Parts: sequence; C-alpha cells; structure tokens
Amino acid sequence: MTIPTDRQRLADRLTLGSELLHLSRRDVEDLHLTRDTVLELTLQALVEHGHRRYEMPAKIGVHPYDNVFYHAMPAYLPGPGIVGAKWIECYPDNPRRFGLPQTTGLLVLNDVASGVPLAVMDAAWLTAMRTPAVTVLAAAALHPGATTFGMFGCGVQGREHVRYAALALPGLETVYVDDTDVAAADALIAQLRPELGVRIVKGESAEAVTKSAEVLSSATVILREPLAVVKDEWVTAGQTIVPCDLNTFWDLRTSHRADKYLVDSPSNSP
Ligand SMILES: NC(=O)c1ccc[n+]([C@@H]2O[C@H](COP(=O)([O-])OP(=O)(O)OC[C@H]3O[C@@H](n4cnc5c(N)ncnc54)[C@H](O)[C@@H]3O)[C@@H](O)[C@H]2O)c1
Repeated sequence: MTIPTDRQRLADRLTLGSELLHLSRRDVEDLHLTRDTVLELTLQALVEHGHRRYEMPAKIGVHPYDNVFYHAMPAYLPGPGIVGAKWIECYPDNPRRFGLPQTTGLLVLNDVASGVPLAVMDAAWLTAMRTPAVTVLAAAALHPGATTFGMFGCGVQGREHVRYAALALPGLETVYVDDTDVAAADALIAQLRPELGVRIVKGESAEAVTKSAEVLSSATVILREPLAVVKDEWVTAGQTIVPCDLNTFWDLRTSHRADKYLVDSPSNSP
C-alpha cells in the first residue's frame, strides 16, 4: 500500500477520524491555484490514466427530472495515493428558473491509508477549471499548430475554455465565440479581451464559427435529445472537435465519419 508522503502533515493538522475540512467555494478559490497549476495537475492525472494506473469505474447516475442528471464519480490514483469521489449535478434550466448555476457539486477526499474522510469541498470551481484543462490538453496534443479556436456556449465553461485555450495553444491567434444568449457572448468578450493576448470575435452564426475554426468546443446544455446545431456538412477534414456537452450540439453523422474518434476509456475500468 502506498502511504502519501504528506499524510503526516495532514495528521498534524487534523484529528483524523473525528475532524474533517469543509471547504466552501470561497475557501477553494482562496487557495489561488493558477490555471498553469491546474493544467499541470490535470496532465499528471491524464498520464496516470494513460498508463492505466488508476481505478475509476464508469459514472453512475440518477435522473429525477427529464434532462437532469446527478453523477457519482469515485476514483483512486495509486501513484500519489489519492482517493475520493465527486458528486455532481446538472440542471440545465437552473439559470433561467432559479438564477443558479447549471452545474454544482461536492468532492469528498479520503485518507487512503485508513479510509477516513479528510475533506468535503465545493466542486463547482474545480469542475469549471478541470473540464477546460482536459479539453485544451487534448486540443494541444491533437492539433498543436492551431491558430483558431471556436467556442459554443459562453457561460462558466465557455469562459474558462477560452482562457485555457489561450494558455495551452501556443499558436492561437483568434477565438470565435457563439451563444444563443447574445449578452453572454458580449460579456465573455468584454471580460476576456483585455485579459488575453488573442483576438476574440463574436461569430455571426454557428455555421460561420464552425467554418472558421480549426479546433471547436461546445459547453451549452446536455439534453436527452441531441440538438444537432452544427450540421455535418459544415465540418471539413482536418478540424478537431472537443465537446464537453456530450453529443448534444453536434450532428451525429460527424462522429460516424470522423477519421479519429477518441474516448477516455473504451471500457469501465483498466
Ligand atoms: N464534460 C464535463 O465534464 C462537463 C463539466 C462541466 C460542465 N459540463 C457541461 O457543459 C455545459 C455548460 O456548462 P456551464 O456550467 O458552462 O453552463 P452555463 O449555464 O454557465 O453556460 C451555458 C451557456 O450555453 C449557452 N447555450 C445554451 N444553448 C445554446 C445553444 N443552442 N447555442 C449556443 N449557446 C447555447 C447558454 O446561453 C449559456 O450561456 C453543460 O451542459 C454542462 O453539463 C460538462
């Protein structure tokens, strides 16, 4: 059994078994982990995954309403000795109905040596950071020379995808963004233009964005019935598509004729 090297440091601060940390979103944000660090940590996790040094069963979920899901995602990394589970929910109508985010959740971390819980923490920030980190690491590996990036959806994920794309794609010059809510696209551009050294352009249509960008991503909504907004005939050879809203946004014909179709795990566990 691998005992993590920092276990003693934790044991000095917490009475393991009778105390645990509760970290709010603010507490998590106040750690000031940079996006570079998140990219580095995500890369390390992906390398462990690539070497099959992990245990991560396929997600299980419950679905109280149509188009709503809760997912439980336990994982164990034997290398660094990390074990925990994310419990995340997605309510696509939350912003409109309640003024709440679509995606909220918790993460539980345990002490791998004894199993006792160490921390219960907000997972919304972590999800907002980790998801685009995976997208852009994939984009950088699959399409290293990309100069253009197209982003559908300008919410929490869309904003972070653009920030991370600017970090991970060294040749990036122009980002095209598109959202059915024009105010969301305008807000993204107003916030990120002064911050990033790339051109950010509001797309004239989903078709125009699709035809303009070498790498495309989407973070809109996950629905039982795909929207298929991006038509197959708009997509041409040489483009890379890294969606984070599953297959909602894309014409299924595109995935059927893709030269390469990559998935995280072809089966439930290594
Ligand atoms: N794959 C993952 O691990 C992962 C992680 C987090 C979130 N997600 C998914 O990413 C999606 C976005 O999450 P978020 O937190 O950014 O949500 P959000 O509500 O902050 O943003 C979604 C944006 O998409 C826009 N949109 C909706 N329908 C659209 C359409 N047809 N065309 C263009 N824009 C459209 C909305 O106006 C909104 O601005 C959700 O579906 C969520 O489940 C996936």
